[in-house]
Amino acid sequence: MERPLAAIVLAAGLGTRMRSARAKVLHELAGEPLIVRSVRAFAALDPGFLVVVIGHQAADVEKTVRTAYSGREAQARLRFAIQNVLRGTGDAARCGLELLPQDFAGDILIGYGDMPMLTAPTLRRFIEAHRASGAPLSFTSLMLDHPAAYGRVVRGADGQVSAIVEARDASPPELAIKEINGGIYLADSAVLRQALAALGANNAQHEYYLTDIVGIARQRGYRVVAWQAPVAEEFAGINSREELARMERHLREEVNRRLMAEGVTLIDPASVYIAPEVKIGVDTTIGPNVQILGHSRIGSGVLIDGTAWLRNVEIGDRSHLKLGVRAEDCVIGEECEVGPFANLREGTRLEGHNRIGNFVETKKARIGRGTKASHLSYLGDAVIGEETNVGCGVITVNYDGYDKHETRVGDRCMVGCDSQLIAPVTVGNDVYVASGTTILHDVPDGALVMSQHPQREKPGWTAQWHRRHAGHPRANARQSRK
Ligand code: UD1
Ligand code: CA
Repeated sequence: MERPLAAIVLAAGLGTRMRSARAKVLHELAGEPLIVRSVRAFAALDPGFLVVVIGHQAADVEKTVRTAYSGREAQARLRFAIQNVLRGTGDAARCGLELLPQDFAGDILIGYGDMPMLTAPTLRRFIEAHRASGAPLSFTSLMLDHPAAYGRVVRGADGQVSAIVEARDASPPELAIKEINGGIYLADSAVLRQALAALGANNAQHEYYLTDIVGIARQRGYRVVAWQAPVAEEFAGINSREELARMERHLREEVNRRLMAEGVTLIDPASVYIAPEVKIGVDTTIGPNVQILGHSRIGSGVLIDGTAWLRNVEIGDRSHLKLGVRAEDCVIGEECEVGPFANLREGTRLEGHNRIGNFVETKKARIGRGTKASHLSYLGDAVIGEETNVGCGVITVNYDGYDKHETRVGDRCMVGCDSQLIAPVTVGNDVYVASGTTILHDVPDGALVMSQHPQREKPGWTAQWHRRHAGHPRANARQSRK
């Protein structure tokens, strides 16, 4: 039988080098918090327990992780350990360990929450290598030409690992070592408990270093294996905004290269940000200054002119997004024309062959095939049929100050310009709404509905009006403009 596995992810720190009021692990890479990306790799291993150690902005970090894993089986095994005083990574690991059952016996995998590039396949290879070695403790190591602030792997004359020394505590010869600590550890639970209990804080930062478990285990005669990680990029830790930006660029370039190889045209790859999970069909063209985030799916032959912000959006084949479209949590069917300057909010669903023009805002709106709203509209909490024309300036009045209400409009209607539909209200099929109508009650199929006042004229009224204001401070300005 396979040995039980538990995973502990350390994410309690503030991340001083970020110089931020926000906990480091909540900063985002490719639109996703670092902690979500790190935890995902560990969760994919299906460990019996997954403990996230939180401290700084604990409530926010916990909520972020929980939302990312809602509904998943992993939720049941997810636990949050609070590290009240941030006394170092070793202390954080101890906090995590306390949340495992006392009698847990097996392997414990420990990693940091600031390693967003880590993947489950790499962790699996590490676990396999560890188990094959038979050693009670392994950690990941890499060779770096510029080892910077990473912990150095110190080896004895026999070539065996003897300790990890933090850069801040390292002597000049130790600093010259190019083998560094990748920051993932796997240990037999009993040996880990012993080693963590023996940690001291006699170092430059007066912290309990997790890295010291290596030296402690060695002193107690245990074998320790440094597993040379094959994919160095995955072990990059994020400590500063500069590192975050560099990784963002690296990730973005990788995604862009893959998409171009798959048949997507990026007119200016340097200004296009596409999240790794996004799928895009062939012969789609994306102009400059476009962000496509979340789990968006874009069809084939789609044209996005430029300056668009899209998150969790599904776009059908051959649709055209003109300049300045913002869309979130919505579906745009095939052969739609959207924009310029359109705002499609959550729950919008364009069934296909739609035209949503400039300054149109939609929210929770299902818009039937072939229906158009070409200018200046708000369509919220609405269900609109097929082949209907929503005129310029039409507004669904959905909010009464307490609740939102639904507007329904049928097929083949002409909703005249500058009309308001006071929800809840239903307009049938084939209805003509005269422009400037305020619809208060349901309208039956095939009717013409209007509420405008008859037009009246008062000859000479304007001159009278100005005479009445003869002493007004603005009167001169008005006169001189004549
Ligand atoms: C750590 C390692 C270093 C390694 C590098 C790899 C130690 C002492 N050093 O350094 O050898 O090369 O990672 O990226 O472990 N954290 C807590 N509680 C604390 C302190 C930190 O939960 O009291 C968490 C942080 O939120 C962070 C993680 O531990 O996610 C790592 O802390 P960080 O300060 O980034 O460690 P490094 O200095 O990068
Ligand atoms: Ca780090």
